[in-house]
Amino acid sequence: MAKGKRRSIALSFLLLSLLFASHLRLDLSPLHLWKHQLSYRPSTRSNKERDGAELESSRAYNYKLALTRLVRAHWASLNNGLQAQSLGRALRELTLNGLTCISDTESDLCLTSSSVRIATASGGGATVFLAAGQKLPLHSPSPFTIRPYPRRTDPTAMARTSAVALVAGDPSPCNFTHPFPAIVFSAGGFAGNFFHDINDVLIPLFLTSSPFRSRAHLFITDLRPFWLRKFGRILLRLSPFPPISPSVPAEVHCFPAAVIGLKYHGNLLCNETEPPGFLSTADFREFLRFSLSLSHLHRVAAGEKPLLVLISRKNSRVILNEDEVVEMAGDVGFKVAVVSPEKMAAVEEFAAVVNGCGVLMGVHGAGLANMVFLPTAAAILQVVPWGLDWAATAYYGRPAKRLGLKYMEYHITIKESTLYDKYPRDHPVIADPWSINLQGYNISRPVYTDGQNLTLDLVRFRDTLVRVWELLQL
Ligand SMILES: *[C@@H]1O[C@H](CO)[C@@H](O)[C@H](O)[C@H]1NC(C)=O
Ligand SMILES: *[C@@H]1O[C@H](CO)[C@@H](O)[C@H](O)[C@H]1NC(C)=O
Ligand SMILES: *[C@@H]1O[C@H](CO)[C@@H](O)[C@H](O)[C@H]1NC(C)=O
Ligand SMILES: *[C@@H]1O[C@H](CO)[C@@H](O)[C@H](O)[C@H]1NC(C)=O
Repeated sequence: MAKGKRRSIALSFLLLSLLFASHLRLDLSPLHLWKHQLSYRPSTRSNKERDGAELESSRAYNYKLALTRLVRAHWASLNNGLQAQSLGRALRELTLNGLTCISDTESDLCLTSSSVRIATASGGGATVFLAAGQKLPLHSPSPFTIRPYPRRTDPTAMARTSAVALVAGDPSPCNFTHPFPAIVFSAGGFAGNFFHDINDVLIPLFLTSSPFRSRAHLFITDLRPFWLRKFGRILLRLSPFPPISPSVPAEVHCFPAAVIGLKYHGNLLCNETEPPGFLSTADFREFLRFSLSLSHLHRVAAGEKPLLVLISRKNSRVILNEDEVVEMAGDVGFKVAVVSPEKMAAVEEFAAVVNGCGVLMGVHGAGLANMVFLPTAAAILQVVPWGLDWAATAYYGRPAKRLGLKYMEYHITIKESTLYDKYPRDHPVIADPWSINLQGYNISRPVYTDGQNLTLDLVRFRDTLVRVWELLQL
């Protein structure tokens, strides 16, 4: 009896949520969503009343619905029998308390649907002062803190992310009152490494901010000036307001609502079957293309030689015979541009170079994340060092395919690695890399990630280049 009843409750819940999901989908055509995001601009007109009305109606766009989507996103990513219960709890808390905190595998988020004051802190973090009625989860430690960087399982990343404290209390008056909700996130963690910039910050921010359609303020903890210079133009497309960052002396910023933390879907992944955005990785690529005014959506195969951009590494996983590789690529029929790390640091300029190329080639490493700037039908050629097969596929191989790119891997043989001269043939580092990888990143990293350079076998590599050249002709 009780079981049957539970089942029917579960069933009606399922039906309800399906209904809700289809409603959300209709309302949120995922194609070109980023265009809608740009529809709001702070008004500069003088007619105050009219501006007020506009502001009200854009508020009526309803950030509460946006917040609900984020809570739903949590539900979608939970994969156990507690799904419905958990969604119910989060929604109930949000409605009753104006505050709920949820956790996914990689991220912690707290959402308030009523007003908060957020004080900047000089150390890089922030303090969120909750309003009367906003209750923290039961039994939460005091002070209650979260680190708004979506790598919570990684102690190193978390150590580089300042805590944001949520406290009940009596703050100073507002220095600034903002019309829209705040999205609080950290540009600490591993930010500054291009893969992590894209994967841990920009994609999660793209996902989290999508339901707000530009009507949000970015409150960036651990923000360093270089990072803002690098990505400011992209951020501007997610929020037209200047980002708020740590300041001395502290300032108090007031918002009608806030999201603290970012959603995370996976390696270079926007999962289009999941809320909050129902956006695909290709949508993210299209968003970047728009933000940086890149010309090519699809690769144009001009009659001339295709451009191969070779990402040149200098400290680890270096191609020791790079000059010969470049010469050979020229023989095969490519125009080759060798790009140094310094050149890649100028994101906007380098994005334009990548967007105009046919092949992006590099040894496994963060530079390959520049694939997000490639036009469809361009190719990516990843050179996979010894022992890094799994990482190569997970971080770049699968994402490349999701982006609609042509993808090729060149796996080196052990003789092409400097590890060959360092270890006896039967040493596990050479004979059984998986056993080393299983011991954890702090064991495998000094060996495979930082501890080898490569001398490519020119005969074998030529075959790969020829195949890539042929791929481009398809
Ligand atoms: C913020 O407001 C407080 C209290 O009103 C004031 O003392 C402080 O000078 C203000 N700070 C800034 C940066 O305006
Ligand atoms: C996307 O999410 C769905 C569940 O909504 C899951 O089944 C699927 O595996 C995810 N896709 C990827 C590429 O992780
Ligand atoms: C590597 O990390 C694991 C768990 O993260 C830890 O237990 C171990 O002590 C670490 N080893 C070294 C050599 O740092
Ligand atoms: C790889 O090459 C770079 C540049 O020549 C050098 O600094 C580094 O020590 C080399 N690493 C190994 C493990 O040989």
